[in-house]
Amino acid sequence: MKRAIYPGSFDPLTLGHMDIIERSSRIVDELVVGVLNNSAKNSLFSLDERVSMIKEMTDSMPNVTVSSFDGLLVDYMKEIQATIIVRGLRAVTDFEYELQIAQTNHVENPDVETIFLTTSLQYSYLSSTIVKEFASYGGDLTKFVPARFIDRIYEKYHISK
Ligand code: PNS
Repeated sequence: MKRAIYPGSFDPLTLGHMDIIERSSRIVDELVVGVLNNSAKNSLFSLDERVSMIKEMTDSMPNVTVSSFDGLLVDYMKEIQATIIVRGLRAVTDFEYELQIAQTNHVENPDVETIFLTTSLQYSYLSSTIVKEFASYGGDLTKFVPARFIDRIYEKYHISK
């Protein structure tokens, strides 16, 4: 049984994240989408909102669950008995940071392996940060996030469309 975790802030979940969830869930037996409860980070959506948004989008995927975690990822992985970390690589700029995290996690627990999926081309530019920047100016989000989240994101910026 290969249980993997796809960790991240998901603030908010983008179509790029959904692409990684769909593709990695076909590779592993069980995929846990792990939402980081990072109190130091000023997030647009609360932890509960982020978890429930991902649940809405993954409801019909039988081997995908969603949960949140605090603290070190490797500690949480021990708790849920996951051994694989899934991350998406968009461009070479992601590589150095991702390599450091993957190697640190592997040193911390040699049973933990990180697998990287290269993002689909149409999402290679996309990040939650860019979505937030775009949304804050009332930009069109249809190509960036699941349609059902668009109004919820604008609401955070008091924008009515
Ligand atoms: O979507 P993000 O914000 O790029 O995800 C980063 C994440 C959640 C994968 C990373 O910050 C993380 O795993 N944080 C938990 C603390 C930890 O274990 N850090 C890695 C060891 S240096």
